[in-house]
Amino acid sequence: MILTRTAAELAALPRGRRRAVVMTMGALHEGHLSLIRRARELGDQVVVTIFVNPLQFDEQADYDRYPRTLEADLALLEPFGVDAVFAPSEAEMYPAGEPTATVSAGVIGRVLEGAARPGHFDGVVTVVAKLLHLTAPDVAVFGAKDAQQVIAVNALVRDLNFPVEIATAATVRDDDGLARSSRNVFLSPEERHTSLGLSRALFAARDAAEAGQPLPAVIAAGRAILDGDDGIGLDYFAALNPADASELEGDYRGEVVIAVAARVGATRLIDNVTTRIGSPSAEGDWR
Ligand code: PAF
Repeated sequence: MILTRTAAELAALPRGRRRAVVMTMGALHEGHLSLIRRARELGDQVVVTIFVNPLQFDEQADYDRYPRTLEADLALLEPFGVDAVFAPSEAEMYPAGEPTATVSAGVIGRVLEGAARPGHFDGVVTVVAKLLHLTAPDVAVFGAKDAQQVIAVNALVRDLNFPVEIATAATVRDDDGLARSSRNVFLSPEERHTSLGLSRALFAARDAAEAGQPLPAVIAAGRAILDGDDGIGLDYFAALNPADASELEGDYRGEVVIAVAARVGATRLIDNVTTRIGSPSAEGDWR
């Protein structure tokens, strides 16, 4: 595994036939390893980036306290068949400090998670754009757990014509359904139990969709589970358009991301499932 620290070192890396890139902020865990496994399936050369991006933090204190564990990250990656790591310094990525030219996630950056964290998705798509230029992948893999990030990155690539395929790796769940998240360690045993309501609500909504229910009934099936639970401080439970994260309602038919965000104790959790409302006709229209 080759460690590169500068854009010049990265550019000198010989290319495989198909380069798959996984972008991370380090502090790697099981969730990242599932992205790397997916990258291995999709490419013959896997490059992992490790960079704590200051542009996507709303608070300086959060950025300062974000764990930086490069040595442990490299040790974790070594047995996973990663060919190269790109771990630039902040000065390498932003030599003049905060960049003048940035990318906007548009309306996607202002709703749902974007409303809770103003500027976050603009910071994400700006660094993703830079890392796509620097790593020049054929395919880049993102975790489906961060649905709005995936939607923002797909919009970036689609709207600005980046020549790259965006792939997702399925959310990793514990046996009881709880989505794995680095925030789960903050949950007490009781809160962890309460948190299961989120995945239960999503699965109930998905079951209703698969049973052919219309969108309002699908959302109602999920909300019924969350509304009855005092321990869950619901922020949103919504059906999103996978193209632009706008909220869907009424007689919409087609693919939807059903997303939930809620506070359990002091911990804010997010989760989602992708499903379909209606079924496609032979012509591909949704009925
Ligand atoms: O998902 C993350 O870890 C970050 O948002 C990403 C995509 C690496 C950009 O900094």
